[in-house]
Amino acid sequence: MTFTTLQDMDLKNKTVLLRVDLNVPTNDGLQVTDMTRIDRVKPTIDYLRDHQAKIILLTHFGRPKGQVKPELSLEFLAPVLEKQWGCTIRFEKDMSPAISQKMDSGDVALLENIRFHAGEEANDPDFARQLAAMGDVFINDAFSTAHRAHASTEGITHHLLCAAGLLMAAELDALAAALQTPKKPVLAIVGGSKISTKLGVLYNLLPKVDYLVLGGAMPNTFLLAQGKNVGKSLCEADMVNEANKIMTEAKKQDCEIILPQDYVVVESLESPTCHDTVTIDAIPDDKMAVDMGAQTICALKDISSKCPTV
Ligand code: 3PG
Repeated sequence: MTFTTLQDMDLKNKTVLLRVDLNVPTNDGLQVTDMTRIDRVKPTIDYLRDHQAKIILLTHFGRPKGQVKPELSLEFLAPVLEKQWGCTIRFEKDMSPAISQKMDSGDVALLENIRFHAGEEANDPDFARQLAAMGDVFINDAFSTAHRAHASTEGITHHLLCAAGLLMAAELDALAAALQTPKKPVLAIVGGSKISTKLGVLYNLLPKVDYLVLGGAMPNTFLLAQGKNVGKSLCEADMVNEANKIMTEAKKQDCEIILPQDYVVVESLESPTCHDTVTIDAIPDDKMAVDMGAQTICALKDISSKCPTV
C-alpha cells in the first residue's frame, strides 16, 4: 500500500490541519478515563513540532449532530493534552484563517468540537473549503474515523496537500500486513452499531479472512435475519436482506461469520444495574442486548487461539 507520509512533506512554518481522534472516554465529561488515543498521537505531534510546523488539531467529541452542546465542548481537553504532550495548547472556539497568524512554529491549537458544525457530517463542500482555508497541509492521524466521509476526513482532502500521520501510517501498515500477507487462519473483529455504515468494509473482508467476528450491536441485525427475537436491542430491521446477502457471500468465500451465542441484557441503558445473561434464543421482548456473554467470550478465546493473525 503506498501513501504519502509526513516524511514526504515540507512542514517548516506550514500550518498543518491535523485530524486526530480525541473522542476520548470521560467520567461525566470531566476527566479522561483512558489516555490511549491521546498518547498514540504524541509521536505525530512531536514530529510536527520538531519540524517547526504550526499544528491545528481537528477532532470530534461525541455526537452533537451539528449543534453546539456545551457538555460536548473540547475546552476541558486542552489542559489534559498539555500534561500528556508536554506543550502548551491554545483552545480555539471559532474556526478562522486568523488562528495560524497568532501561532509560531511548533505551537499547537485545539479547535472546538468539529461536529458542532452541521457541515462536518454532511461533508458540505463549503464547510470543507472553510476548514481547508485555515491551513496549508492536511494530515490525517485518525484511522478510527477514516471510514466516515466527513468534511474533516474526506472533503478537506480536495483542497490541500495531504499525508498520513505516524499513527495512521502504523495502522495502515498493520492492516496491510494482516490482509495482504497474513499467517493463516485470519480472524477479524468488527464492532459498531450499524452494518449499513460498514458494508464496504464487511464485503472487503469476506474474501480475506477465515473468521469474521461481529461485535457491538451489529450482530443483532444478523440475528434478526436468522429469525431470532432481539427484543429491544439496537438493530437495523431495514438491513435484514443485506445481512442475509453478507451471510451468503461469506459462505461462498469460505469465511465463517461468528455471531454471539449469549448476551448480557438490560431493561434500559439509563438504569443498567439489573442485568442478566441469556442465550440468543431467549432474549426477552422488554430487554436489550448490551454485551456478549461468557459463553461467547469462551468460544472467541478458542477460535482466536487458533489464529496467528487477528
Ligand atoms: C469512535 O470513538 O469510535 C470514533 O471516534 C468514531 O466515532 P463516531 O462513531 O461517533 O463517528
